[in-house]
Amino acid sequence: MTLHVNTTDLRGQDFLTLADLSPGQLRCLLDRASQLKALQANGQPHQLLAGLSLAMLFEKASLRTRTTFMVGMSQLGGFAVDLMNEHTQIGVRESIPDIARNLERWVDALMARVYAHRTLEELAAWADIPVINGLSDLTHPCQALADVLTMREHRGGLAGRKLAYVGDGFNVCNSLLFAGALAGMHVRVAAPEGYEPDEDILERAQEIADDAGGGIEIGNDPQAAVRDAEVVYTDAWVSMGLEHEAAERREIFAPFRVDDCMMALADSDAIFMHCLPAHRGEEVTDAVLDGPRSVVFDQAENRLHTQKALLVAIMRGDAAFDELGA
Ligand code: CP
Ligand code: NVA
Repeated sequence: MTLHVNTTDLRGQDFLTLADLSPGQLRCLLDRASQLKALQANGQPHQLLAGLSLAMLFEKASLRTRTTFMVGMSQLGGFAVDLMNEHTQIGVRESIPDIARNLERWVDALMARVYAHRTLEELAAWADIPVINGLSDLTHPCQALADVLTMREHRGGLAGRKLAYVGDGFNVCNSLLFAGALAGMHVRVAAPEGYEPDEDILERAQEIADDAGGGIEIGNDPQAAVRDAEVVYTDAWVSMGLEHEAAERREIFAPFRVDDCMMALADSDAIFMHCLPAHRGEEVTDAVLDGPRSVVFDQAENRLHTQKALLVAIMRGDAAFDELGA
């Protein structure tokens, strides 16, 4: 379902990229996520999706995305079905339009992790139910939702804060640019030459940053990017699907490893973030990943809470949250 309604209510909308959200919608989702997180922590039921179902399609491996969507649906009183790809064989056993037109008859939303972002767009175009991006070669918006909630929990208000991303300008970086821009942050990216974020993504992130009062800087010097940063973020050098480039990438990205020396250049209270899975000794050292500044498992936990807020928002809309009371 490709439906872009000019309202703050996300009911019925796809979630393919954070660039479709307004700063207010992002803030609202984060507030809802915090509310659901508190209810879960206090053992208070919040079964806002009773009787509703989510299908999950994975072309690639996953620990966090699979588990958090499944558990999230269960905590909300709904049901998630994992369409294991060996059975679905998207585009091989059955075409994308046919898969979409079957699923829309049975479930209320679809979450898909795919290689080509185009696959998500086709699913969304053919399915008359909301489609959620669970990671593509272009973006990872569910991850960025959890990331900004985690930053907000650890650093308070985000507007004006300095976020440094060091490493591959790929899917996680792209969504972080959108999220940071929407939150009015100053985002600095340092990637090796030729591995900077996509031009179209940068253009859109810059527009969002201009509107929200933030900033975007792209360069190739990791030390310059992390200097005084309040958040330091990195991701794998060899993303899923790029394994054939592993040897070359390990050499090119070596100066971008986040270690104690790099963290020493950041703000004295800087936090370290990573979407996980981490490749210890490659993009980050054990000392940083397991050190006192690392908030990576808080990020992983927040995948659950932010996605629950997203699922309620797109499957039922704002009105559903009224059932929770004040
Ligand atoms: N960060 C993330 O998306 O993790 P998974 O690949 O395990 O889902
Ligand atoms: N950039 C990584 C993120 C994994 C969550 C990948 O695409 O493999």
